[in-house]
Amino acid sequence: MQTESSARKLDGKATAKAIHQEVAKGCAELQENHGVRPGLTVVLVGEDPASQIYVRNKEKSATEVGMKSEALRLPADTSEAEILDTVRRLNDDPSVHGILVQLPLPEGVDSQKVIETIAPEKDVDGFHPYNTGRLLTGLPGLVSCTPFGIIELLKRYEVPMSGKHAVVIGRSNIVGKPLAVLLLRENCTVTICHSRTQDLPGIASSADILLAAIGRPAMITREYIKPGAVVVDVGIHRVEDEATCRELFGDNERRLRAVQKRGATLVGDVHPQHMLERASAYTPVPGGVGPLTIALLLQNTLQAARESVGAAS
Ligand code: GUN
Repeated sequence: MQTESSARKLDGKATAKAIHQEVAKGCAELQENHGVRPGLTVVLVGEDPASQIYVRNKEKSATEVGMKSEALRLPADTSEAEILDTVRRLNDDPSVHGILVQLPLPEGVDSQKVIETIAPEKDVDGFHPYNTGRLLTGLPGLVSCTPFGIIELLKRYEVPMSGKHAVVIGRSNIVGKPLAVLLLRENCTVTICHSRTQDLPGIASSADILLAAIGRPAMITREYIKPGAVVVDVGIHRVEDEATCRELFGDNERRLRAVQKRGATLVGDVHPQHMLERASAYTPVPGGVGPLTIALLLQNTLQAARESVGAAS
């Protein structure tokens, strides 16, 4: 059976589209008023298939909103010193306002050292300790795109946050930690859970807003979800066999066809049917958190370009 649900869909795809349009307008204005075209350079080292797709999408989206968009593709055996030199060259290039080094980097390269070499004012990923420190302190700066996108989505759908209990499952530097800080900034009461947390279902099911960023397919089942909770699913995983597809999506024909014809459908960290059964509002996978990451990357790049000419909004 497919679950009937009255839960409200928080449409990340539509929200991302709106943000793309706002950024395109902002780029045109910056060009007109200051003669500056925002520039984003993405650095990809090696041939990781998922990273190649992400980088292509970032490059294409930046072009579509009117940015100068460039992807530097370096061979997998590029040395750490060469990567650092590339980053330093981009730091010195005034036509580049945003630098993103796609992670993961090949083994043997110190990612943290690479991140810390990016000029903080061009760190559109918001990973540099200067920016993470400013975030923690409540100062303006560049904020990590996925968590920033989630907060933007919740705000645009007017999900009440002040005073609510937000439970973040996952403590990565990219998502969990900055997301917790941003929720705190919205006056949520925040709990961060992780793989060593005792009684995870007990804590998760006390959340008014449950945010899952654990990287395990459909792990969050109904006992983790309070009836009426707002559920944000950051995970994205391939489901390649029909039996698992049926277990997760019931008789959903579209999902089954995707597995049969395209070899896979996508699922998040939250069990999709259980989520629909319990949540009052939720982000779908795909079309929820995913599209927002690139949208906020573009917004960060526009912000960096504005600040470079003293035109920050
Ligand atoms: N790899 C997976 N997600 C990200 C991201 O948001 N930024 C970068 N630089 N690499 C990633």
